[in-house]
Amino acid sequence: MTSLGITVTDRDGVRHVVLDRPDKKNALTVAMYAALADAVESAAADDVGAVLIGANGGTFCAGNDLRDFLERAAFADSPAMRFLHALASTDVPLVVAVRGAAVGIDTTMLLHADLVYAAPSASLRLPFVDLGIVPEAGSTVLLPRLLGYARTGAALFLGEPIDATHAERDGLITKVVADEELDAAALAAARAVAAKPRGAVRATKRLLHHDRAQIVEAIDREGKAFGERLQSPEARAIMAAFFERGARA
Ligand code: COA
Repeated sequence: MTSLGITVTDRDGVRHVVLDRPDKKNALTVAMYAALADAVESAAADDVGAVLIGANGGTFCAGNDLRDFLERAAFADSPAMRFLHALASTDVPLVVAVRGAAVGIDTTMLLHADLVYAAPSASLRLPFVDLGIVPEAGSTVLLPRLLGYARTGAALFLGEPIDATHAERDGLITKVVADEELDAAALAAARAVAAKPRGAVRATKRLLHHDRAQIVEAIDREGKAFGERLQSPEARAIMAAFFERGARA
């Protein structure tokens, strides 16, 4: 099934979701978030054994579509929030394959993934502060758990990218694999999980995420601040500048 930049295919117990808007570096529009939310929300009821998220092209994803941010300042009840709730609430394991840049939500979604494979080109970026906004997806709770506050500070306040090697060391990704092996490695892992006893897999995921309510609370807290920041003149001026060719040269 294709839905405006997202392709969803179910096969061998794996729901394969592809970010498929390569001309815009797979930047996520409202319609793409809605398709992502649908794909994750319905996975358990559809008896899917694993959800695999990958991307078309050399960039995993440029984060939220900045034009959408400029045009729709409402965030609290947005499809993006529905997607984040689905990520934090599903009992179906999530596998992600990353190559190239993963910006904003495309890095914070990894904090909800159960297995992450990355090519050496992977570059995890969290430029929320640089954009005049705040982090989301529960990352203000989940990121310091992995990195500590000092390295979280470098990622969030300085906007320093985290490369594949460091991400593997820090536990943000499972394994770095050669670019040409990435898709096969992620698919093999998703198929392997999907072939395991499903009840045990789901019960294990529920136990791992026993503090889910706290994470959902963080998602909502961040979402409120995010919506407020989106409407600030500060953030709007920075985002508008992205589309001014001179400003990007
Ligand atoms: N929203 C909307 N359009 C975007 C976009 C975004 N987040 N990211 C990239 N695009 C568009 C560009 O406007 C450009 O469109 P055009 O060809 O019509 O001019 C096209 O995608 C290619 O982008 P470009 O910047 O030329 O690619 P690049 O390879 O030089 O750089 C990135 C790739 C991801 C590093 C860079 O595009 C980027 O920093 N994007 C913004 C990331 C961001 O701040 N996201 C929000 C996070 S919350």
